[in-house]
This record gives sequence, structure tokens and C-alpha cells, in this order.
Amino acid sequence: PRVAVVFGGRNSEHAVSLMGAGSVLDAIDRTKYEVIPIGIAQDGRWVLAASDQRYAIEGGELPAVDTSGAALALPTDGSSLVAYDPGSIPVELGSVDVVFPVMHGPFAEDGTIQGLLEMAGVRYVGSGVLASAVGMDKAYMKTVLAAAGLPTGAYVVVRDRDWRLNRECVLKEAEQLGYPVFVKPARAGSSQGISKAHDRASLEEAVEFARRHDPKVLIEAAIAGREIECAVLQSLGDEPAAASLPGEVRVEGGQEFFDFEAKYYPDQMSLTVPADIPQETGEELRAMAVRAFEALECEGLARVDFFYTPDGRLILNEINTMPGFTSLSVAPQLWAASGLSYPALVDRLVQLALS
Ligand code: DAL
Ligand code: MG
Repeated sequence: PRVAVVFGGRNSEHAVSLMGAGSVLDAIDRTKYEVIPIGIAQDGRWVLAASDQRYAIEGGELPAVDTSGAALALPTDGSSLVAYDPGSIPVELGSVDVVFPVMHGPFAEDGTIQGLLEMAGVRYVGSGVLASAVGMDKAYMKTVLAAAGLPTGAYVVVRDRDWRLNRECVLKEAEQLGYPVFVKPARAGSSQGISKAHDRASLEEAVEFARRHDPKVLIEAAIAGREIECAVLQSLGDEPAAASLPGEVRVEGGQEFFDFEAKYYPDQMSLTVPADIPQETGEELRAMAVRAFEALECEGLARVDFFYTPDGRLILNEINTMPGFTSLSVAPQLWAASGLSYPALVDRLVQLALS
């Protein structure tokens, strides 16, 4: 089969996507699959990956899609891809059996590229349009999780109009949550646009900061607790989706929370698998992770993030339909510790998309 590994994208997790794609391109079995690496530049252009495309952070510099590769036409005519080399001569690339969108955030993990691929009749790895869209929007995500009976934290949604016209009301409502609060763009990832607010002045500032990423913002009550994450994987047959061992993540770099740096720069974060929690709490957490996966009707892989509070409660923070996917990212590490290596995980996801 021919697999197009698509990376980059028009959003603030562009570099994170490249790091994941670099790992997938290294790990995918080239004796089994013919691989076409495709970048989506920050301006939305699709290109065949340049031969010297950089995928890793080097010297503190984040990677980005190198647009010197041949331009691609969007796969809107069945699954046939056409490339235009720099002399603008069309090159028929033929059909693609499956697209692996190793991408995060808006236009990547939110149902948009999934919709494009549905219309083009191309199979793809991961969740479909609805699950991707719901998983991307933290407000709708919590609505669906709560409707499935899963415990989520308290929050307030701030829509653009409310903020512009009723700011005082919004601030009063948010303050009912009690400080500190976390302020997040509703549709972003990798902690971009997130800050912690301790008083009204920093809350206003935090909302403005989040609004640079998304006019829709969430204000969440801070939850004291350990951060435990679990990965869920669809099964190849008719069995229900399976949960990995739970793992505990800790910030090691002195940051106040898991900011972008903690997530992607070396040695800023530690992961302990299995998490040192009571056996039955671990079982409960894994069952909840699978229920979250099913509540959104996810496909492929997801990572479900929890807080484990000092009084022994589990609170579901969020589900990610295309979790960070470098070989050292949390979801692949959780599966590796659960007996599924990174290359086997990549293979399973492609096989799921093909099945
Ligand atoms: N949004 C990042 C990639 C994650 O959830 O892991
Ligand atoms: Mg997320």
C-alpha cells in the first residue's frame, strides 16, 4: 500500500507535527509500505517533502515545512495526487491508499482535513470528522464527556461576543470558580495560548492572550492533583478499544504547568509507567479512558488526560484525538510500556485505516 504521511499545517502546532512525522517516517516499514512524505506549509501550500526537510528541533530552532519541494494539487479527484515540480510540469503521483495526518490543532486535528479526505474518498489514520471536531473544541469535548457520565472539572466558556459586550459579567462568573484558574483557547493544543491566572488583572490578560489563538476561550478551575495519562487504541477486530497502562507525567523544568517548553524540549518532563497509583484506581482510569474514546466515537488512537486528586478522585481533563506522536511522546511511550513498540503502533494505525 501507498501511505502519504502528511505533516505541518496551518496552525501553532506546526513544529510539533514535524517532530511526530519525523518519527513516523523513521519507523514505518518501507518493505511493506511505499511512503510519500507531504508537508503543508504554514501558508497552506501542499508540497512533496524536500529531500533535506528538517523534522527535529535543532539548536533551539523549531522545524517548519520547507516549501522548496514540488507543489502538490489537493487530492480532490479520487485519491490521485498530482505534483508540480519547480518547472511546473505536472507529475502524476498515482493513487494513495491511506493518508496518515501526523498533525495537531486547527486544520489538522479538528475534522477539516478529515472532511477533505472524506470528500476525496481517501482513507486516513485516526478519528473521523465528528470526533476530531468535538475533540478539538474543549467546550464541546466537556459537554460530550459529561453527557457520558464522565467527571470533568468546572469551567466557563467565553465567546467572542460575551467578551466584547459583557466582560464584567464574564469575569464575575469566572471568579465563582475561585482563583487560580487556567485560561485556554478552546481550540488549540500543546499548551499554546494557555496561562494561569491568580487575580482579576492576570485573568483579563490571560483571556486576551488566549484570544490570540481563538476567539472562543475556556476558563477552568485549577484542579490540584497528579497528572495521569492513558492511551486508547482501537482494536483491529470486533473487540472494544484497549487502554494502555496509565502513566504519570511530571514537570521537571520548574514551569508552573505543562507549557510548550515542558512538552517538547528535552528533560523538562518525566513520565512514569505504570503510574504509582492504587491498582483499582488504575483500572477505573483505564475504563474511563475507553468510555471517553467511545463517547466521542474516536477511531485509531487517542490520549486521555486525568487529574488524580489527593482525596482519591479521578477527573477527566481532556482527550486528544491526535496526541503528540514522536517516538518519545507520551502516548507512544505508554504503548511501548504496555508491550506495543512504536513501529508496531504505526503499523497498527495504518492497518486500522486500511481495514
Ligand atoms: N496537542 C498535543 C500534540 C498533544 O495533545 O499531545
Ligand atoms: Mg489537547
